Amino acid sequence: MNRRPFVQALAWTACGSCLGLGALSLRPLERALVPVLLGDLSLLPRTGLRLFPAHQVAVVRTDGGFGVLSTRCTHLGCALRLRGHELVCPCHGGLFSQDGAVIAGPPPAPLPWFEGGVTPDRKLFFYPSRPLAERRLVQV
Ligand code: FES
Repeated sequence: MNRRPFVQALAWTACGSCLGLGALSLRPLERALVPVLLGDLSLLPRTGLRLFPAHQVAVVRTDGGFGVLSTRCTHLGCALRLRGHELVCPCHGGLFSQDGAVIAGPPPAPLPWFEGGVTPDRKLFFYPSRPLAERRLVQV
C-alpha cells in the first residue's frame, strides 16, 4: 500500500489553501491533485464490482486487491451499467469485463483505471486526473 501520493496531494492542497492562491493560477493544479474519497473499505463486496455513479467509476475487488476504473464508455462516453459481472453500455450495446476489457460492441478501447489507495482510517480514494498506463491493484 503506497500512501505517499495521498499525503503529497493533501500537502499540496493545504499549501495552496494557506497561501491563498487557490483562487488564482494554482486552482487547476490543486483540483488535479485532490483525491476523491469513495467511502469505507468495508462497503466493498469481497469480490466483484461496485459502482460509484456520482464519480463515474467502479471499484473492482479481487483476492489480490482492488482497482478503480472508469464507467464512461470509451465509444461515446455514455454511463455504463452493471449487469452481472460485466459493464454494459445502454447507448450502443458496448460490453466490458469487470477488469475493463472490451468484450463486444463498438467501444474502441478498454476502460481506463485510476491511481488510488486506502487512507490510514481505511477509506478508499482515487485520483480522477491520474489514469494508469496499465491495470494495477491496490493491496489491502
Ligand atoms: S457509447 Fe457506449 S457503445 Fe456507444
